[in-house]
Amino acid sequence: MKGDYPTFMIKEIKEQPETIVNVSRGRVNYDESSVVLGGLSKHIGEIKRSRRIVILGCGTSYHAAIAARQLIEEMSDLPVTVDVASDFVDRSGAIYRDDVVIFVSQSGETADTLSALNYAKKRGCLLVGITNTVGSTISRETDCGIHCNAGQEIGVASTKTFSAQFTVLVLFALLLSEGRFSKRKRYTEILQSLKKLPAQISETLELEDQCKKIAELWKDKTSVLMMARGYNFANVLEGALKLKEVANLFAEGILTGELKHGPLALVEHGLPMLMIVCDDNTFDKCMNAVQQVTARGGNPVIICDRHLKPKLEKFSQHLLLLPETTDCLKGLLSVVPLQLLAYHVATLRGHNVIATRLIPLNCFRL
Ligand code: F6R
Repeated sequence: MKGDYPTFMIKEIKEQPETIVNVSRGRVNYDESSVVLGGLSKHIGEIKRSRRIVILGCGTSYHAAIAARQLIEEMSDLPVTVDVASDFVDRSGAIYRDDVVIFVSQSGETADTLSALNYAKKRGCLLVGITNTVGSTISRETDCGIHCNAGQEIGVASTKTFSAQFTVLVLFALLLSEGRFSKRKRYTEILQSLKKLPAQISETLELEDQCKKIAELWKDKTSVLMMARGYNFANVLEGALKLKEVANLFAEGILTGELKHGPLALVEHGLPMLMIVCDDNTFDKCMNAVQQVTARGGNPVIICDRHLKPKLEKFSQHLLLLPETTDCLKGLLSVVPLQLLAYHVATLRGHNVIATRLIPLNCFRL
């Protein structure tokens, strides 16, 4: 039921604080600083000893994998590759017996992801499913897996499941580092930050009025350019996908580092742009890009850490300020204004965000 909400999409965007709690429930013990993922318990040793982790998915699920890739690599010291499932099959991507292949899919039924699963199965590697649908084909056809526990997503655009998949992958990264003294400090820092995240997402949802004002400015435009780097890159891909999907507004998400390799030519006064700037190892480079864009007359909306306001306010009239969290979790906050922007541009353009997801009948087969 959508209760007092006008659409399922906005309901699900606003449910995200609860989503993080639900994903973590019974899995994270904050007092003992530990993570348990029951679905992986029999295979975790094999995963830790693997040669490589390959993550496959489509659309938003692919973006969630990109969002967590850096952390999984950092915590596991394993090479991690992320691919769009259809492209991986098209090019007959290499898979070895000692690889672990993870399939991320909200529905667990997406044809391209299933086709990649069938392809990987023939290579004899360990298959892991991350889905939000108990009994779905992906959850049944993989060797082990993690249920996202985000609750049913009815709005046709994935919102809360992005956050659930991202959080599950963060927990997976933490689990891979367990028992390694060198990773313990980072592990504890991430876990403590995760605990604060539901309240911080609620705070971030308060950016809605500001997002509505920006949506007014974007509603009659024909394109939007979004850029970020590092931990936040996945979110501009996701923000652009949401604008295309629900608002039918063309948007492109690029790596800020690619700006000087062509897209800078697009920067002219009036081109709607959004940049994410966070206080992490990419900060100086992102600031440099902000300076280049504004020097050419660009007027970007900037999503940034709250404490960066004094450094960024002279470059933008539209700062969307985020609560402070650790670098690898910032994406779970910065995605919120991107979802709200897409939703409000869509509403102002009169697009139907009421459409609901078709639920495959076999999703409920156990
Ligand atoms: C975007 C969206 C799609 C799905 C994609 C994969 O809002 O919903 O991009 O993410 O079709 O679907 P699943 O995750 O069910 O495999």
